Amino acid sequence: MTTRPGFTVFLTGLSGAGKSTIADILIEQLEAAGRPVSTLDGDIVREMLSSELTFTRADRDLNIRRIGWVAGEITKHGGAVVVAAIAPYDGAREEARALVDRHGAFVLVYVATPLAVTEKRDVKGLYARARSGEITQFTGVSDVYEVPSAPDLVVDGSTGSPAEAAQQILDHLTERRLLPDRS
Ligand code: ADX
Repeated sequence: MTTRPGFTVFLTGLSGAGKSTIADILIEQLEAAGRPVSTLDGDIVREMLSSELTFTRADRDLNIRRIGWVAGEITKHGGAVVVAAIAPYDGAREEARALVDRHGAFVLVYVATPLAVTEKRDVKGLYARARSGEITQFTGVSDVYEVPSAPDLVVDGSTGSPAEAAQQILDHLTERRLLPDRS
């Protein structure tokens, strides 16, 4: 029996919303506090676990189901998991929640950066390619993003800094007694 509660923090939001940047800071802080973290970042999962999948609804759902299942297996053993994936569909996110919360805590964080901001940033140049039609089914442009109906936390990736967003998540984890209170 582990004495540490397992948990999964699941960051969802548009491409370019700041999910990975916030995740990196969060992971660094958790590890500095002695908590090793398993990371399931969309870009890496699509290379290592889901390389055959496309961006159809069925494939995105399967991608998120795989992530949810792996996160649940780690959470079960008292591990800490940080997921960063677009996960545009409420149903798949709730499926991931169900795969995790039978083993430990699931924290859904909506990184609420508006499309106007993510598209203006266009760090990877994908929005321009989506607008020109070169990339199809692109979330926010030619495919839907369902705003989470019941997130545990909303952080703003456009007004606040990524460090502030990471701190809000750490505070939430502390409030839920998933991290020791250091105050
Ligand atoms: S998800 O929808 O299945 O959750 P995931 O987070 O794994 O998506 O992958 C998203 C990343 O794939 C984006 O950050 C982007 O770099 C890339 N990508 C390529 N094509 C698309 C597309 N059609 N829609 C969204 N992202 C895409």
